[in-house]
Amino acid sequence: MDYILVNNDVMERDAMVDIEDRAYQFGDGVYEVIGIYDREPFMIDEHLERLVRSASEVQLDLPFNISTFKEQLLGLVRKNDIQNGIIYLQVSRGIASREHAFPESDASPVTIAYTREETPLTDKEDNGASAVLTEDIRWLRCDIKTLNLLPNVLAKQKAVENGAIEAILHRGNTVTEASASNVFIVKDNVVYTHPANHYILNGITRRKILELCSQMGITVKEEIYSVDDLLAANEVFISATKLDVVPILEVDDHLIGNGYPGKYTKRILRAFRESIIKSGVR
Ligand code: PDD
Repeated sequence: MDYILVNNDVMERDAMVDIEDRAYQFGDGVYEVIGIYDREPFMIDEHLERLVRSASEVQLDLPFNISTFKEQLLGLVRKNDIQNGIIYLQVSRGIASREHAFPESDASPVTIAYTREETPLTDKEDNGASAVLTEDIRWLRCDIKTLNLLPNVLAKQKAVENGAIEAILHRGNTVTEASASNVFIVKDNVVYTHPANHYILNGITRRKILELCSQMGITVKEEIYSVDDLLAANEVFISATKLDVVPILEVDDHLIGNGYPGKYTKRILRAFRESIIKSGVR
């Protein structure tokens, strides 16, 4: 039996959702997905810091103390005996009769968390995958990890229907990120990725990659680049929790570089895997 966390209680998985939970009706809440490698959540503090920021940006008062919540999550991972997988957690603004504006103070936020065992995407990480391009139709606060994901859902569906791993998003001619990952290109020995502003989610994996590149002496420019730059790049890769680093070899039937994972992507993937191993030892 799988256990889940609902507010402060660990319970069996068949807990019910209240039909007037604002997450359910408005997508009014924030969430995080944390990777588990070899029984250890990876960069959990960074994910929880981002949760605090997301909640504050949408004026949602988190109903817990972060260090207590972290202990509850670690307990859940142990109780469910997860080896490799994810923790999914979300906090909604609470349960209240449906009105768009925030409910009166009697509604308290609802927190849920569960874990899921997942097979690592090693084959895709090593051998690459394809992506499609699609217009970025999301709102202008993509830096907040909110539950409103319909544009991301539609984009990912387009990818799946085309046998691709991801949909790379562009606002006009500018590449922003992908439906559930960040995008990097390599051109003339320089790694480019969209700046961490309101147009993208500043991925925890992305931040780790920037740190590793700086340690390895790889030049990174957090600058905007165009769809044409993407298609003409020597290498393209995406990053996200549990997906780690996946080389993109084809975008909309257009071959990237020579159609094989590039040397920078491979170096960054190797360094990323080493950092996971080191974090478990720490
Ligand atoms: N998504 N950009 C978007 C739009 C994302 O949804 C995600 C992650 C990322 C990468 O962030 P991170 O490296 O912190 O996982 C970038 C998660 C995995 C999801 O929604 O399932």
